[in-house]
Amino acid sequence: MKLFIYHAPEETPTDKMPECAIAVDVLRATTTMATVLAGGGEAVQFFSDLDKLVEVSDKFPAEKRLRAGERGGAKVPGFDLGNSPLDCKQEVVEGKRLFISTTNGTRALQRIQEAKTVITGAFVNLTTVVEYLAKNQPENVWIVGSGWQGSYSLEDTACAGAIAAHLLEKTKLSIDEVAGNDEVVAAMALYSQWKDNLLQMFKHASHGKRLLGLDCNDDLKYCSEIDTLDVLPMQQEPGILKRQG
Ligand code: MLT
Repeated sequence: MKLFIYHAPEETPTDKMPECAIAVDVLRATTTMATVLAGGGEAVQFFSDLDKLVEVSDKFPAEKRLRAGERGGAKVPGFDLGNSPLDCKQEVVEGKRLFISTTNGTRALQRIQEAKTVITGAFVNLTTVVEYLAKNQPENVWIVGSGWQGSYSLEDTACAGAIAAHLLEKTKLSIDEVAGNDEVVAAMALYSQWKDNLLQMFKHASHGKRLLGLDCNDDLKYCSEIDTLDVLPMQQEPGILKRQG
């Protein structure tokens, strides 16, 4: 098994796809997706384009759908939800399909959706991702941070490093056996520095600061908690994630 970490979807190779691809958008899309599926959401269907989301979701029964739209951290007017995991309580999402478009997270997912297996990772469901990798040992794995409009995001790379670090611990494989690119070693070092104070790291991150400016302090705290959810979102058909297992 070789892991490759890319800080943003724009950095991934364009001429191939891995056996397994993991999208990471800690603040906040992949945290929100895990929350929805853990709360009994029927599925999460993702779109990079808002108009396409509206067109497709219009054909879905209104009582069984929720539309979530976020741009620049803020809720898109006219949508049911923005991208806060705190709005995705069980009583809101149970039995519903979430149609979601966010600034970067859903773009990252679209970039990797042709991979044989597509899953999403965040700190809230870290162990489910690690256990999947340890059990299935895909030959090559991309962990793709969503970044911010093509550039690096501290929190996504730290989460990618957490996946790598916990995987080594669980499998007893060495870093040289697993690291497919230098980014893996760097991401593990980043996680190691901040693992006991992820919330503080989020407050130094550019998107963390953006969210604090939007009064989303509680979102940062929620997203910084490790293993609060026992759920692995996995793509079942192109663009549609469901709870695995
Ligand atoms: C994104 O896709 O860029 C994020 O999830 C933004 C957010 O915090 O809503």
